[in-house]
Amino acid sequence: MNKTPRHVAIIMDGNGRWAQKRMLPRHIGHIKGAANLREVVKACFTRGIECLTVFAFSTENWRRPPDEVALLFDLFAQYLNKEVEKLSQQGGRLRIIGDRSAFPLELQQEMQRVEAATAHNQKLQLTVAINYGGKWDILQAAKNWQIAHPYQNVEQITVAELDPYLSTAGLPDPDLLIRTGGESRLSNFMIWQCAYTELYFSSEYWPDFNAKSLDDAIDGYAKRVRRFGKTDEQVMKISARSSQH
Ligand code: IPE
Ligand code: IPE
Ligand code: MG
Repeated sequence: MNKTPRHVAIIMDGNGRWAQKRMLPRHIGHIKGAANLREVVKACFTRGIECLTVFAFSTENWRRPPDEVALLFDLFAQYLNKEVEKLSQQGGRLRIIGDRSAFPLELQQEMQRVEAATAHNQKLQLTVAINYGGKWDILQAAKNWQIAHPYQNVEQITVAELDPYLSTAGLPDPDLLIRTGGESRLSNFMIWQCAYTELYFSSEYWPDFNAKSLDDAIDGYAKRVRRFGKTDEQVMKISARSSQH
């Protein structure tokens, strides 16, 4: 059985501490972190991972000093400008999730442009979550569901019906969520979509997290038993049956 996760999600944490440990300003850590994303995307391509979703800026990160917020958005704009063509040449599709209304119109247009320009690519779907929060996502999905169904009572809504209104519509739920930087929390990242995701916490700071670290996370994932509420015995029967075919 192929144990490579189809969808890997990453909370890229620890840039600031990576820099501080080296007596460098925090922004150097963010620059290193952005460069590291390039390396990890490359590793995902070679490992046959279909979807990679990364957390770049949370709805709570607005609480940071304004110059740090501005630098993070600059790095994001640079990524769109410089990296997307390379991503596309390798067969990567870029999608951005989060509340875009906070961004300057020009940047919103650029986001649309790169999404459209890479929409045909199928090898790897890279989703960047920026100004994203899991609570925001659920709330906007509920509001948009109601707009689309003005005559339906909200009591009739089901989980399957809400799914297409989440910002991740069309993506499978993450199989593996990695958080670097040593913290063991979700910090409001894809809280709906990660209901049954395997969690992996790494003590490495994001700029240090490399292809070998990714392999360790995938090896750990491959050893997990995903029960989805069933018993071990039931799960074993299903996997024995699928290995006969
Ligand atoms: C992750 O690194 C990047 C963002 C949250 C934007 P941090 O900036 O949170 O780094 P630490 O956690 O302070 O080390
Ligand atoms: C989570 O990291 C958000 C991103 C990596 C973008 P934070 O550093 O903001 O998380 P907390 O505040 O420590 O929970
Ligand atoms: Mg942090």
